Amino acid sequence: MKNSKIVGMGHFVPEQVVTNFDLEKMMDTSDAWIRERTGIETRRWIRPGEHTIYGLGYNASKLALERAGVDASEIELIVFASVLADHGFPGGGCFMQEQLGIPGVPAIDIRNACSGFTYALSIADKFIKTGTYKTALVVGAEIQSTGIDRTTRGRDISVIFGDGAGAAVVVATDDPQKGILTTHMHADGRYAKKLWCDWPSIHYTPAVKQVFDDPEHNFPHMDGRYVFKHAVTRFPEVIMEALQATGYTIEDLDLVIPHQANLRITEAVAQRLGVPMSKVFSNIQRYGNTTAASVPIAMSEAWEQGLIKDDALVCLASFGGGFTWASLLVRF
Ligand SMILES: CC(C)(COP(=O)(O)OP(=O)(O)OC[C@H]1O[C@@H](n2cnc3c(N)ncnc32)[C@H](O)[C@@H]1OP(=O)(O)O)[C@@H](O)C(=O)NCCC(=O)NCCS
Repeated sequence: MKNSKIVGMGHFVPEQVVTNFDLEKMMDTSDAWIRERTGIETRRWIRPGEHTIYGLGYNASKLALERAGVDASEIELIVFASVLADHGFPGGGCFMQEQLGIPGVPAIDIRNACSGFTYALSIADKFIKTGTYKTALVVGAEIQSTGIDRTTRGRDISVIFGDGAGAAVVVATDDPQKGILTTHMHADGRYAKKLWCDWPSIHYTPAVKQVFDDPEHNFPHMDGRYVFKHAVTRFPEVIMEALQATGYTIEDLDLVIPHQANLRITEAVAQRLGVPMSKVFSNIQRYGNTTAASVPIAMSEAWEQGLIKDDALVCLASFGGGFTWASLLVRF
């Protein structure tokens, strides 16, 4: 059986930096509250009409392809993760495929929120391992800023989320020691409404309801404390699952790249696992939580910073809406 190897990573974030002080002007919040509870200092938000979700994904993909030395024409599969969408349908994968100029290549859309990229990478891994495809492009892209309630009413959510995209090029290899060693995905729909958005929904289409302005339905909602408690349990669980499946231990890990949910969650996870924070990548301070884009942006930045060296053992892990959670263990 083939193995699948990540050979290039890239990311792209919108230009506009939004500070906590900028948010203070929009709602009743403070830089101190946001830093203390989430670790976030700035996030990127698109300017009105500046980008599409798939356009962010395209920019990240171009860089990943360039770094991988792979031409777009070599891609045989696209897996595109994004919890929100530019349009009701189709998803961003097809629009991005058109931008890449590779008609005919399958484009799968994944909507598993913050676990979107880890789910997408796991799916690409299986297609490559079974020999169906040799080269896959896996993307996590998100524009959260236009869908959140930027008033005091929505402050628990709106201070957390940001926009951006990341991408990875995955290719088949015959080397059994290198590449994606194991993948683990989970979901628990009992908690679907603990972190969710009712809109867009078939229940509130123009045909069903002419005027749609109820914030209960058209903005995301989150039971923050509930999410926090589950995240700090599920992250360590799924990381240990990946280690146990491969016979490695915490000490063998060179780097953990968790979904950037909240710095306090990441710190609690590191403490529970007994991993020093120096081995846990964090860039939430600068980007906030970019849902499906957070793991690939983090992976791309970790690589840029020389933290993913040849032979490094890296664990990617996610937790988010659904609830969904996942992990992958990768030997680079
Ligand atoms: C959202 C989160 C930061 C809130 O922190 P918390 O300590 O649980 O705070 P609470 O929700 O209990 O709210 C405490 C107070 O702060 C207020 N508050 C909420 N958001 C605020 C904001 N942005 N600025 C200032 N005050 C805020 C609340 O209204 C509440 O006020 P009250 O005591 O007068 O009622 C925290 O629950 C969290 O990080 N949860 C996980 C979120 C997450 O990671 N989501 C993504 C998962 S993928």
